[in-house]
Amino acid sequence: MTVSYKDLGLVTTRSMFARAMEGKFAIPAYNFNNMEQLQAIIRGCTESDSPVILQVSSGARKYADSTLLRYMAMGAVEMVKDSGARIPIVLHLDHGDTFELCKSCIDSGFSSVMIDGSHHPYEENIRLTKEVVEYAHSKEVVVEGELGILAGIEDKVEAEKSTYTRPEEVEDFVSRTGVDSLAISIGTSHGAYKFKPKPGEQLPPLRFEILEAVEKRLPGFPIVLHGASSVLPEYVDMINQYGGNMEGAVGVPEDQLRRAAKSAVCKINIDTDGRLVVTAVIRKVLAENPKEFDPRKYLGPAREELIEMIKRKNREVLGSAGHGEEIAAIEEKD
Ligand code: G3H
Ligand code: 13P
Ligand code: ZN
Repeated sequence: MTVSYKDLGLVTTRSMFARAMEGKFAIPAYNFNNMEQLQAIIRGCTESDSPVILQVSSGARKYADSTLLRYMAMGAVEMVKDSGARIPIVLHLDHGDTFELCKSCIDSGFSSVMIDGSHHPYEENIRLTKEVVEYAHSKEVVVEGELGILAGIEDKVEAEKSTYTRPEEVEDFVSRTGVDSLAISIGTSHGAYKFKPKPGEQLPPLRFEILEAVEKRLPGFPIVLHGASSVLPEYVDMINQYGGNMEGAVGVPEDQLRRAAKSAVCKINIDTDGRLVVTAVIRKVLAENPKEFDPRKYLGPAREELIEMIKRKNREVLGSAGHGEEIAAIEEKD
């Protein structure tokens, strides 16, 4: 069965990005895999009046079941309505790697997809991205492309080995593919081990000069920052204190993300920080209550802590708090 995102009450990123660019803030894209994470994202964003991008990886789609996931997103929209709040919600495919996967998401109600062709040679990245854009735009769905490779712990690649985006390629890529936004590589990476500083050494700053060069070549074009978790030390410490071992976990300092959010970066991707919060709280509750076996007793507190983290990020880091109702009103007018 084919379903349009419009029938689910979802919106695209168009108005969000236009407003974020103008207002010098960024829209949060939080990944989710299960009900508690989705509830926390929705509550965190409604309680801080923030627009939100619900982000689903192909792994998450397999984990949660693609049909169930569609109904969960629909449920999220209804939950917001019932609460009396008005925030715009996007359902986005994170790191789509094939045309077929992107098409399947578009046909099942996603309003935005990423086609990540960054690991392909340049011309193949263009061909694949363009193919997805043509299909997506025929359904009024928006597309995020990527230039430059982010290192990721999943690939056993170290952060130092990222391939930074080459600003001299961005105009050609955007004009030939027709993408609506572009993810770039400026020194962030996926996962919880983003940098490996030697003892006493400072973290390397993000390569803002690359971002500035991209902005000059693509004035007003929405840029996306992946790998943007801060790997919040309080939760890493909590995990280590309650039986985990995440020595050396380190992320992007929040002041750098704040700086990025004020630039052409309109979307900031956060997955790892949410995972850390959930894991830390579950470890703590179970360590302190060894007889507990009711999942609500540990998933519930994890969810509450995640809501607080999301509210704080929206307010203090992304600056998206307070813009939810305003963008929902723009969407309703259009
Ligand atoms: O960028 C990757 C996201 O954090 C999703 O990760 O593929 O493990 O769901 P995943
Ligand atoms: P983090 O691993 O830094 O949370 O990045 C998530 C991401 O980029 C999802 O696409
Ligand atoms: Zn990513």
